[in-house]
Amino acid sequence: MWDEFCQDLEPVSGSGELSDLQDKYLSRKRGLISLELRKLGALTPQERSEAGQQLNELKAQVQAALSERQAKFKEEERRLQLATERIDVTLPGYEAARGGIHPLRRVWRQMEEISVRMGFTVVSGPEIESDYYNFEALNIPKGHPARDDQDTLYLSDSLLLRTHTSPVQIRTMEKQDPPLKIVVPGRVYRRDATDATHSPMFHQMEGLVVDEGITLADLKGTLEVFLKELFSADTQVRFRPSYFPFVEPGAEVDISCIFCSGKGCRVCKSSGWIEIMGAGMVHSRVFEMVGYDWDKYTGFAWGMGIDRIAQLKYQVDDSRLFFENDIRFLRQF
Ligand code: DAH
Repeated sequence: MWDEFCQDLEPVSGSGELSDLQDKYLSRKRGLISLELRKLGALTPQERSEAGQQLNELKAQVQAALSERQAKFKEEERRLQLATERIDVTLPGYEAARGGIHPLRRVWRQMEEISVRMGFTVVSGPEIESDYYNFEALNIPKGHPARDDQDTLYLSDSLLLRTHTSPVQIRTMEKQDPPLKIVVPGRVYRRDATDATHSPMFHQMEGLVVDEGITLADLKGTLEVFLKELFSADTQVRFRPSYFPFVEPGAEVDISCIFCSGKGCRVCKSSGWIEIMGAGMVHSRVFEMVGYDWDKYTGFAWGMGIDRIAQLKYQVDDSRLFFENDIRFLRQF
């Protein structure tokens, strides 16, 4: 029987076959060795002890051979597993995705930084504003045509989403006496249809300086320094007379085109200049509204669009890109 077992064992190549083989020889009911052992009862006591001893030895040998083979299979399996599941610890790891600062926020911060270096204090005000602060106190009474320029989102008869950052001028002057040097970055809202240059929500930065003896020369000098810092040292600045109800005189401020340096291109529509903000000397009526002595104090103010400046600085021709949060766009900053 040993020889037969050895022949059976020889070709066995896996744990499954091995357990079949174990059944064939050692299964309690049908195993060949078990059957032989059962036959011992029919023998004489002497024959029985001899045959019994032989059978038990055979059984032990078979068991040993089976577990030896089983151990071999186990080892092979493990070797295979180690070979296929090996981790190469020298491979470079995965790069963690890092967030970036939104282009609008970058420009916002840069404008704040320049202002702070120039001695301005950054202040903010509410986005839900009253008609009084957004219009009335800025010398834009009901029925004034300037109200039509700023398509307003009203929340009620007297509450609205501020259409500019100018109301924070009033709020600050009501609380503080001159001298005053503030900038006000923030969100503003208008009932505009969205296109490449319009969005119902956009950003502005307002500026206000009030003291004794402030002149138009201070306005020009301050804005020129600011704009040269923001764009580049060779940026030219031009002031054109304009009208805003809360300043007198008022001006629109242009910079030399940053794309063609004034030679004329598509962006500046061949004019060589790009309009960048509104500005002016604070209207005496505004000082009156906040209780400042307009015989004693003068001041200047300006307001500019942060989104527009970001569009120019980063050459983004469609402002919708700022709000769509497309990662392929944002990754470039
Ligand atoms: N508030 C104006 C706007 O949104 C911009 C502006 C113009 C602000 C002239 C000023 C200023 O402070 O002096 O169109």
